Amino acid sequence: MQELTLLQPDDWHVHLRDEDALAMTVPAAAHSFGRSIVMPNLVPPITKLDQARSYYNRIMEHRPAGSDWQPLMVLYLTDMTTPEDIREAKDSGLIFGCKYYPAGATTNSDSGVTNLHGLGDVFAAMQEVGLVLQLHGEVTDSAVDIFDREAVFIERYLGAIAEQFPQLKIILEHVTTEQGINFVRNSSANVAATITPQHLLYNRNDMLVGGMRPHLFCLPILKRDHHQRALIDAATSGDKKFFLGTDSAPHARHAKEAECCSAGCFSHHAPLELYAEVFEQEDAMQHLEAFASLNGPEFYQLPPNTKKVTLQQQEWNLPATINYGSDELVPLAAGQLVRWRCVPAGV
Ligand code: NCD
Ligand code: ZN
Ligand code: ZN
Repeated sequence: MQELTLLQPDDWHVHLRDEDALAMTVPAAAHSFGRSIVMPNLVPPITKLDQARSYYNRIMEHRPAGSDWQPLMVLYLTDMTTPEDIREAKDSGLIFGCKYYPAGATTNSDSGVTNLHGLGDVFAAMQEVGLVLQLHGEVTDSAVDIFDREAVFIERYLGAIAEQFPQLKIILEHVTTEQGINFVRNSSANVAATITPQHLLYNRNDMLVGGMRPHLFCLPILKRDHHQRALIDAATSGDKKFFLGTDSAPHARHAKEAECCSAGCFSHHAPLELYAEVFEQEDAMQHLEAFASLNGPEFYQLPPNTKKVTLQQQEWNLPATINYGSDELVPLAAGQLVRWRCVPAGV
């Protein structure tokens, strides 16, 4: 295969950050995607509609001329979120989902939820108005091993939430385990998962054997190879429940190459190219459009994009570094050879 044309993909999970960072992150998102679900873990977090609206405006200032890329905004759930916040968010038309971060689970999650059971009224309101619940699905219990935190979250909480709110649309964001894949497969059509390029391309050996590679450190942490295998099988199967969410999460090089490494991988330098590597290896390029361009809009009840993009078979080396405000960052698969290149194909 020399060339593959598909409907323009969307990214259902990205971190654009704020201020100076937007000059890099917004054009990068608009380059590859039609729409992006913008995660709200700023400091302070985006917990209210008016904050989301001004963040939306700051983002739009950086949208390249001529682009019709759209940021889809998200509210950050806290112990203080009310059903009124949810109704107001839905009525605005600006908000597409609400993000659950367990307090302390990941980058900028200090204001996250401390007691999931306290959110019953909020989940009921989300179910009623039709806002998607986006889960960072890990427990933070210090007694639970970091490699087990997703599986334990599923066992302790996810089954109960899905059962109690059967009409609530739930996404297990950046799924990393066989347990997560099986849970989603065996649930109703209201439960889905996003899958990142790093969790498809790598497992924990890639991060830890022969020395520790901080640029592969993200949360949930990379798992064993059989979990990676389960993710690859799900993503490349065409199954509607699995779709693209890069979780591209920029951190300056000094924050990664540090005594305490920040969690997150940047992949917006070549997101489709990185996913294409995996689909080609699996001889599943025919399912890339479902994963990247169709399954996500269907779950969010939005129309697919109408523009097209073309992936051409062409070997090229990914950049070793990317400018990031006054810093630089090291992107995913920095300097490595990839076999596909994405070009816009007009309408
Ligand atoms: C994300 C970030 O840097 O904001 N980091 C990560 O490791 N995935 C936060 C998140 O998605 O959990
Ligand atoms: Zn997360
Ligand atoms: Zn994320």
